[in-house]
Amino acid sequence: MTRKILVTSALPYANGSIHLGHLVEYIQTDIWVRFQKMQGHTVHYVCADDTHGTPIMLRAEKEGITPEALIDSVHKEHSADFAEFLVDFDNYYSTNAPENKELSQSIYKKLKAAGKIAIKTIEQFYDPVKNMFLPDRFIKGECPKCHAKDQYGDSCEVCGATYNPTELINAYSAVSGAAPIRKETEHYFFKLSECEDFLKQWTRQGTGTNKATLQGEAANKMGEWFENGLNDWDISRDAPYFGFEIPDAPGKYFYVWLDAPIGYMASFKKLCADKGFDFDEYWKQDSTTELYHFIGKDILYFHALFWPATLQYSGHRKPTKIFAHGFLTVNGEKMSKSRGTFITARSYLDHIKNPEYLRYYYAAKLNSTMEDIDLNLEDFVARVNSDLVGKYINIASRTAGFINKRLEGKLQPSNNNPLVTELQSAASVISTAYEEREYGKALREIMRLADVANGYVAEKAPWVMAKQEGQDALLQQVCSDALEMFRLLTLYLKPVLPNLAGYIEAFLNISPLDWSDVSSSLSAQHAINAYDHLITRIDPKQVEAMTEANKENLQATPTIAQASSTPVASLPEAEYISIEDFAKVDLRIAKIVSAEHVEGAEKLLKLSLDIGEETPRQVFAGIKSTYDPETLKGRLTVMVANLAPRKMKFGMSEGMVLAASDERGGPYILSPDNGASPGMKVK
Ligand code: MSP
Ligand code: ZN
Repeated sequence: MTRKILVTSALPYANGSIHLGHLVEYIQTDIWVRFQKMQGHTVHYVCADDTHGTPIMLRAEKEGITPEALIDSVHKEHSADFAEFLVDFDNYYSTNAPENKELSQSIYKKLKAAGKIAIKTIEQFYDPVKNMFLPDRFIKGECPKCHAKDQYGDSCEVCGATYNPTELINAYSAVSGAAPIRKETEHYFFKLSECEDFLKQWTRQGTGTNKATLQGEAANKMGEWFENGLNDWDISRDAPYFGFEIPDAPGKYFYVWLDAPIGYMASFKKLCADKGFDFDEYWKQDSTTELYHFIGKDILYFHALFWPATLQYSGHRKPTKIFAHGFLTVNGEKMSKSRGTFITARSYLDHIKNPEYLRYYYAAKLNSTMEDIDLNLEDFVARVNSDLVGKYINIASRTAGFINKRLEGKLQPSNNNPLVTELQSAASVISTAYEEREYGKALREIMRLADVANGYVAEKAPWVMAKQEGQDALLQQVCSDALEMFRLLTLYLKPVLPNLAGYIEAFLNISPLDWSDVSSSLSAQHAINAYDHLITRIDPKQVEAMTEANKENLQATPTIAQASSTPVASLPEAEYISIEDFAKVDLRIAKIVSAEHVEGAEKLLKLSLDIGEETPRQVFAGIKSTYDPETLKGRLTVMVANLAPRKMKFGMSEGMVLAASDERGGPYILSPDNGASPGMKVK
């Protein structure tokens, strides 16, 4: 029976780069989707950038661009990263899309009509300088327990304590530095406390590991949450906020986590519009299609409580299953910038190049539980080299040459090689393992079969036959059977190694392999193509270079740690930069040739800066609040000359001027001493 399946991965935040931790999830999902597609099922795989919320709004502001411009450029970066790791979404969208706005607002209205929305007045921290309410993460202060400075409002990174922002000592706003005040505000709540019976019933739907909506561990977590009682969920945020406005609630916006999962629907809706699929068939209350969400264990609460409840009370179907995975560690520890193990997708591609090595390694480590998975970099090199190059590819590289050079590229397989039959009959064990997300188990079985095939080649020793008279027919049969086994292994590995499978299909001169091709085989007289070297070993030096490149140098600033009374451990190591890092910034003395107001810009002045180049640079600077443009003309200051040019709402900005500010005032631009002249390097 052909299944209709909609699959999602969690929507990555649009304020950071994709790293190897994220990729656990996208690779895990992609393998499952490719496997299901090979089975002939109808599968749609959708995802999007998660674009709303305070961090994105503030980052855009800091960079002097609109949030829209920020999320656009991140969308391009994320899309390219995923494409290069062969994560093959059917649609990769954005939560800041018209479909999502419409769906979020209509779902909200349905929840309201169902009596599930309440309005309550609450007290929240407020930044009196920046005039905005502050999320906990943007309140910092001294840890009430260990007294480490500059800790976040919800937890201490030094001693691990968790607390309320009210407990921080000398709390300050991470946005303006001002002491936050408490202020009353009306918030909208989704009455999750009334959804307990429904959620309990949904969680317990089906029995046994195969039918249950949640994995064992996840169901246990849910049990704990039910025991503690469910709180109503605060779904609104006050302006200024980058997100969607709540209908009939001026100045109130949906909290990012309300519209984020609805982004799954929105991405699919766009796909339906593009391809003519039926959206309602997949989302109506009584849909018979399947819906699976792959997520990390950290966001289970949102997906196992809020999301099904939101769907239930807005008249939609519920997820068939939630598949939660564990977190990535590198060399047994949390990814770390100082150890160089906080590795971005891009940096992996720059150094290791082949994305399929990582796909293979993750697959070998993945199972269906929420256990963390470890990327041990030494083991990564050893495993890829021995399994992929030493075992799998070896089968073709030891046999293809004889067919091509001695036997006119033609095959002549035997009809009843018991080893070929053994490989064929492993199909169901392997497909069950893929279906159940037991990829490690699938790959162990496949590598066992690769050993079988290699054993066959070693025993028959075609290189000996090739030197003997009258052995051509046997040589041809042995190499053909080996290549038939190689074909089956390629089919089994294809969900993990789609590119390599593509090259091998071309080499074997066969059409794209589907799961049903287990029972077909390479026929007599079938002509193959020339064998090209398909894959090379990883050099451990590449891995070394990658971690070196990701390492943030700690040598440069020991004096700060020594001079300070704070314990050394409380200085987040990642905040130091090396002298080489600093040298990357090209600071120049600049003469302000002209300065003017910008129509429609609240904070910006347009500066024309002479740094000894043929034409002056145009720079937009957020200094309107402190300077009358007339007074700036002719002054010398300091600019960053090698900042990537940036397209802003008002035109190109070709650099940045430096200015000082904090809650006491500013921004104040810098002036060099007498003698400095335009174009001089500051270092
Ligand atoms: N934007 C939310 C998800 C919204 S879904 C409606 C989010 N974004 S995220 O960028 O922080 O994470 C995206 C996914 O990557 C999450 O499922 C998260 O668990 C996963 N991972 C992020 N870091 C990870 C590791 N270090 N290891 C494994 N998975 C990790 O959460
Ligand atoms: Zn502490």
